[in-house]
Amino acid sequence: MKVFINKVIPEIGFKLLDEAGIAYTVWKEKPILDRGQAIQFCKGHDAFLSVGQAGLDADFFRECKHLKVVALHSVGFDGIDIKAATENGVPVGNTPNVLNKATAETALLLMLTVARKALYLHNKIKQGEWGASQQPTQDLGIDLAGKTLGIVGLGRIGTELAKIVTQSWGMKILYHNRTTNAEAEKELGAKKVSMDELLAGSDVVSVHTALTSETKGMFGMEQFKKMKPSAIFINTARGGVHKEDELIEALQQQIIWGAGLDVTNPEPMSKDNPLLEMENAVVFPHIGSATKETRDKMSTCAVENIIAGLKGDPLPYPVNPEVRQGK
Ligand code: DGY
Repeated sequence: MKVFINKVIPEIGFKLLDEAGIAYTVWKEKPILDRGQAIQFCKGHDAFLSVGQAGLDADFFRECKHLKVVALHSVGFDGIDIKAATENGVPVGNTPNVLNKATAETALLLMLTVARKALYLHNKIKQGEWGASQQPTQDLGIDLAGKTLGIVGLGRIGTELAKIVTQSWGMKILYHNRTTNAEAEKELGAKKVSMDELLAGSDVVSVHTALTSETKGMFGMEQFKKMKPSAIFINTARGGVHKEDELIEALQQQIIWGAGLDVTNPEPMSKDNPLLEMENAVVFPHIGSATKETRDKMSTCAVENIIAGLKGDPLPYPVNPEVRQGK
């Protein structure tokens, strides 16, 4: 039984594979593999541990229906043709829950960095300008304490964020979900509202939805215009949820006050993107899960999926549990 791994994962993952007596091939080179190469490697292996979702389309699953498992090194699977995986009998697993706190912290970091213009002022120092303390009215940020955070998609990550900001800063929570989050309502005083109410009533709007046909392009000029001119837009979910050109326009026209993105559309973002030069915009290169502890946990989940899949057992973290195993 052999696994193909398309990038170098944290050491703990290799250790678990060694302990389970599972052989592996790791692609350590740059550039990353294209789809054709990945298919060729997978053809010579029984399982695939994929860092990233690129190329896992219907053709891939048709060509690689022999795979006993595809284990993603991510919680998201929006880029994968799960229907095709299921039709071809390939179980797919992901890494849920282990990155909730790290991603919530990333949203928090963006909120603070944007609200205090921190990156912009840091860059000013590098240009020889000390900035904010020179004049009492110069380069001012905005307080977050006591303000209202609107969470679009109050699931596990959104709830972690809501816990931090309610407990530390007394922020109030509005949320927009298909389902009611009774626990967040009871424990955190979160209030479920319509999208329009959330946009109009929030000082910060933070997106935590999966990318689906429903959420694709959900944030554009129409939504930014419904937000307060003093509001901050945060996206740590998927770049496809916002329309980047319209976000740039909304910031340039001061329709909203600021934006913080950990996900962009496309990724990677071009180095010429105007957002990178804006006073009230902060962009991170998709670092939501990028802590040592979290990546170790993701690696562990992914390998646990591989071990179960190779044995023909149900995956501990399945995306398509309906697939019948035991090839
Ligand atoms: C995920 O796991 O889906 C995150 O976006 C981290 O890459």
